[in-house]
Amino acid sequence: MKTVKTIKEVRQQVREWKREGLSIGLVPTMGCLHEGHKSLIDTAVKENDRVIVSVFVNPIQFGPNEDFKTYPRDIEHDKKLCESSGASMIFNPEPSEMYFENRSTNVEVEGLTEGLCGAKRPGHFRGVCTVVSKLFNIVTPDRAYFGEKDAQQLAVVKRMVRDLNFDVQVVGCPIIREEDGLAKSSRNTYLSKEERQASLVLNKSLKKAKKLLEDGEKDALLVKRVIEQEINKQPLARIDYIEIADSESLRPVKKADESLLIAIAVFIGKTRLIDNFTFRTGEK
Ligand code: PAJ
Repeated sequence: MKTVKTIKEVRQQVREWKREGLSIGLVPTMGCLHEGHKSLIDTAVKENDRVIVSVFVNPIQFGPNEDFKTYPRDIEHDKKLCESSGASMIFNPEPSEMYFENRSTNVEVEGLTEGLCGAKRPGHFRGVCTVVSKLFNIVTPDRAYFGEKDAQQLAVVKRMVRDLNFDVQVVGCPIIREEDGLAKSSRNTYLSKEERQASLVLNKSLKKAKKLLEDGEKDALLVKRVIEQEINKQPLARIDYIEIADSESLRPVKKADESLLIAIAVFIGKTRLIDNFTFRTGEK
């Protein structure tokens, strides 16, 4: 498995693979890979002849007060994980390889990015869509893999691909969790022992909400309040948002009908964690 740092090297390799008629899967990541990322890579390896994993902490998707500088980086660990998973190449560019100093083009998806994380992290999805577009143009993959852990990101990328006619199939992959229910995340490495324990409140509150919905509760505000009360029991937790939205439009709903996305963002100490589940009426 090769690790390359330039766009030129990726393009050369991709050209060769395409000449041989091989299909290509792309797994975009910011590195510090864990089993959540690995599940995306495993799926990509099953479905494609060659898999490229991009490892790039994308500066333009972080806000000024966010953790770009301290975001965990461990490329040696990432190489081992990719190699053992059967990936063919890591693309690990420097920011200067990805962005011209006088760059002036961004990709913006409207509407879907207004609520949830988009409302709390202005400019975040513009940064995500811009870098993902660039990766699609550099790699020209047949398929690209994204986790349902970042449900809004997955919906936004799918919309962008549809609206801009990218010739790529976006594949969503289920959330991978620790045994105790915490969704795996590179940011979990920030948590102290006490915070790690406190972080269980995210999944616990969502489970309560799921049970209510399964039992037929239709009042979305009531379900939200139950999640809120559960999280507020935990002194180390501070709610960033709790949202019950239509899973297509991502607009908040009052009545729990049809297909729903129940998504939360919670600060545990200084660390912002997210979690979600989707629910379809009549589902158990
Ligand atoms: P990153 O946070 O590294 O995540 C890379 C991919 O792994 C995303 O599609 C994310 O949803 C998925 N993922 C992370 N944790 C997961 C888990 N526990 N279960 C399943 N999938 C999980 O998301 C980004 O990077 C960036 O925004 C990126 C798309 C690379 C653009 O910079």
